[in-house]
Amino acid sequence: MEGIVISRINIQDERYPQVYELREEILRKPIGLSLKNEDLSADAQNDIFIAENANEVIGCVMLHPIADEEKIKLRQMAVHSRWQGQGIGRMLVEAAEAYAKEKGYSSIILHARQVAEPFYKKLGYYTTSSVFTEVGIPHVVMEKDIF
Ligand SMILES: CC(C)(COP(=O)(O)OP(=O)(O)OC[C@H]1O[C@@H](n2cnc3c(N)ncnc32)[C@H](O)[C@@H]1OP(=O)(O)O)[C@@H](O)C(=O)NCCC(=O)NCCS
Repeated sequence: MEGIVISRINIQDERYPQVYELREEILRKPIGLSLKNEDLSADAQNDIFIAENANEVIGCVMLHPIADEEKIKLRQMAVHSRWQGQGIGRMLVEAAEAYAKEKGYSSIILHARQVAEPFYKKLGYYTTSSVFTEVGIPHVVMEKDIF
């Protein structure tokens, strides 16, 4: 998409506070929660992919290492409400997948909110669990082979 720049950053980056704000607005406020009450120490181990338009962070997703060294976990997928449905989520997931593949991972795993399950399905993810509750809302485990 024209004008959209995708970058990979970490928590040291000056744009990380914008990523925090976006996650708060899109992933926490609508369900009555706040990142302020969460342990965010995992962020320090994550590769963070951001989408920017005119130097504003409008989308993010993070890759988190897990115990299974073959797999990496995708988390905190969010696109600013004004920008949803325009291919930005897809661009971010594809950038994260390309990076994970380059790093030698064979699959990506994630906990999808049930409302977002069709989005991930469209991108080639399959559901591997029954429905469970996380942050108070229904989720499923999804996975995609990337080798
Ligand atoms: C879910 C979310 C990340 C998707 O990002 P997006 O930029 O809006 O999605 P895209 O425009 O890249 O969509 C990619 C494809 O998935 C489809 N899609 C996206 N959301 C969908 C949904 N809820 N239901 C069905 N299809 C969906 C799109 O139509 C598109 O299909 P196409 O390529 O055939 O046109 C975004 O809407 C969002 O941030 N939602 C709120 C937070 C959230 O639920 N995050 C996920 C937590 S697990």
